[in-house]
Amino acid sequence: MSSTREQLIKLLSHHANTFVSGQWLSDQLSISRTAVWKQIKQLEEDGYRFESVPNKGYRLTYIPDKVSKNTVYWGLKTKSIGKKIEHYDQIESTQTLAIKRAQEGCDEGLVIIAEKQIAGRGRRARHWDSNHDKGVWLSLVLRPDIMPIQSPQLTLLTATVLLDVIEEITQLKPEVKWPNDILINGKKVAGILTQAQAEHDQVHYAVIGIGLNVNQEKSELTDPIKHSATSLQIETSKSYSKQLVIQTILNRFEEVYFNYLKDGFKSIKTKWLKSAYRLGERLEYSINGEVKSGVFIDLSDDGCLIIENDDRQQEKLYTAKIHW
Ligand code: BTN
Repeated sequence: MSSTREQLIKLLSHHANTFVSGQWLSDQLSISRTAVWKQIKQLEEDGYRFESVPNKGYRLTYIPDKVSKNTVYWGLKTKSIGKKIEHYDQIESTQTLAIKRAQEGCDEGLVIIAEKQIAGRGRRARHWDSNHDKGVWLSLVLRPDIMPIQSPQLTLLTATVLLDVIEEITQLKPEVKWPNDILINGKKVAGILTQAQAEHDQVHYAVIGIGLNVNQEKSELTDPIKHSATSLQIETSKSYSKQLVIQTILNRFEEVYFNYLKDGFKSIKTKWLKSAYRLGERLEYSINGEVKSGVFIDLSDDGCLIIENDDRQQEKLYTAKIHW
């Protein structure tokens, strides 16, 4: 974080239930007590509320329920993911901008969040319906020390993060449809788009795009996703604070990502398989126009789906079209 205001927010968020003195804040931020007071006034103009008691200081009592750089910082427990956030009311695509920032050399952990995307992108150059503010649309930049062949693992890692977050928030048990769709009751509630740039044995950056349908009503889902998509609101008849959803995603993401860098892919794979859609079932799939079938038995370490065909031979599917 850079500005004094952002640092103030970080300090207050770490002491959210207690009073912190103006003097302590001024020492921490190397600004005068009057400057601290001015910053607090500005936060109040943004909807934050404080209890202010002489000789005790300031205590945060209310955080506005609106996504902004500051409201997301508040409650973020991360060291690097979301350390820098850019938030836009409207943008072409968080993914496109995050890739640009990554190419410009931004640090790992930059998160770009948009309320609306005019040109949201899905996998295989598909359109992602996000020209409204009912969902969470964000992209984050990673610079993992992994081999390029491992980069598909980041999609699967992100899927496990979303499984956890959705379960924590809604108490529902979502499933993951290979490689990147998160489903509730068989309908898609979230998608992940991973784009990495790598050469030889080094990943320069990976940008992870997350689209999560949060507060859409059924009538707000239009063709072509009308019958195949869903939202947290549709599944639970409740609406959710997007700011809280984003914080939960970023907090959980960092935990899982750091563990992955330290301990590898094994526990991610186990978790992913536990919630895998149609694991153990017979699937039909096409490769180069030929339709085949086999039982979905496993996931490989490079993120492929493993099928056992009728001759009991195992086949790794990289790009096949699965007839789910
Ligand atoms: C898919 O399921 O096809 C992936 C969808 C990914 C959508 C997200 S929304 C945030 C980020 N910005 C984009 O333009 N796309 C990703």
